[in-house]
Formats: sequence, structure tokens, C-alpha cells
Amino acid sequence: MTDATAITVALLTPSDVDEYRRVRLRALAEHPDAFRSDAEEEAAKPLQWWRARLAPRTESHGAFFGAWTTARRLVGTAGLLLETRRKVCHTATIVGMYVAPEHTGRGLGARLLDACIDVARADPALEVLYLTVTSTNSSAIRLYERTGFVAYGLEPRSMRLGEQTFDKLMMALHLRPA
Ligand SMILES: CC(C)(COP(=O)(O)OP(=O)(O)OC[C@H]1O[C@@H](n2cnc3c(N)ncnc32)[C@H](O)[C@@H]1OP(=O)(O)O)[C@@H](O)C(=O)NCCC(=O)NCCS
Repeated sequence: MTDATAITVALLTPSDVDEYRRVRLRALAEHPDAFRSDAEEEAAKPLQWWRARLAPRTESHGAFFGAWTTARRLVGTAGLLLETRRKVCHTATIVGMYVAPEHTGRGLGARLLDACIDVARADPALEVLYLTVTSTNSSAIRLYERTGFVAYGLEPRSMRLGEQTFDKLMMALHLRPA
């Protein structure tokens, strides 16, 4: 097991695409109830789509962070998706929060989330961060609550996996409370 302090959290760039794709597809395959995206659907996307996700400040994307071991293996991710439409460009969404199971419980999730929040706080245009989390995912909900996110609603039957449906808890973090 790697020492958590030896793990570096850094902004991902298009040159990290191979590791990012590997880890993202692992996350989707191993935790289908945690994400609305589907592993098979995303695996079929062209490499250009994956690279575009990591391109800094493109139209619909903001910043994706990764947690790296000293051997340059990616073991965690979190992203901040920006809005460009005028009426909602003061909001952004946290997406793709994942830490590989062999590295959980040592603060990596919190470090990745903090990296996204720091970027958001540095942008004077941003006022609110949103995220959704499966209502039964108590460890992720605790992580978000510790960071200051507050639940404000529930999307009932938001996601279907075969015969089973899952509710999504909607959470918000006000970056600049009035
Ligand atoms: C949810 C998830 C991102 C959490 O990642 P993580 O790296 O374990 O997060 P943290 O280590 O910051 O916090 C997890 C726990 O470890 C504890 N912890 C953190 N650092 C610690 C340390 N140094 N020593 C002991 N415990 C520690 C935290 O207090 C927390 O405890 P709790 O769950 O009982 O409240 C991860 O479990 C995951 O990827 N799950 C699958 C995908 C998923 O659910 N993603 C969320 C989609 S919305």
C-alpha cells in the first residue's frame, strides 16, 4: 500500500488521457450505482472525446484533478464542470469523484475535492457548486458534508440500473455566502 502523503494531486491535461481513461472506466465498471455515466458507453467514445475532457477551460469543461502515485499511476480523480451560458455561469458542478479502493480512507477524496473547490474559489465569477450523489452512498455524502456541501433536494428514481432505480441527493456549496 502506498503512503498517502506520497500521492500527488495535480491538474490533469490531455497528455494524461491514457491513465485517465483507464481509471475512469474502472470507476464506472466497479461502481455502476455511483455514476450516471455507463462504462460501456464511455468505453466506445473516441480518444479525442477523452482528450477534450482534460483540455483546460474548454466550452463545457473546467478542471479535472488526478491523484498520482510516485510510479505515475493515477489512483483518483475529481472534476469541476463549468457552465458557459450567461444566466448560469456563476455555477459549476463537481463530477467524477473517485478514489481507487486500495487508496480510500486516507484523505485522498478530500484532497481531490479541495483542489476543485480551490479552483472554483479563485474564479470570482463562481458563486455556487453543485453535485449529485446516489442517496445510499453514505461515505461520499459524508465526504461532501465535511467539505461544506449541504443537501437541498432529492431527484427521485434519477438513475436506472436494470430493474433497480436509485435516487440522487442534490447538494450545494455556496462559495461566497452573502
Ligand atoms: C467516496 C470516495 C471518493 C471517498 O474517497 P476517500 O479517499 O476514501 O475519501 P477520504 O479518505 O477523504 O474520506 C473517507 C473516510 O476516510 C477517513 N479518513 C480520511 N483520512 C484519514 C486518515 N488519514 N486516517 C484515517 N481515516 C481517514 C475520513 O474521515 C472518511 O471517513 P468516513 O467515511 O467514516 O466519514 C471513494 O470511496 C470512492 O471513490 N467511492 C466509489 C465511487 C464514488 O462513490 N464516488 C462518488 C460519486 S458521487
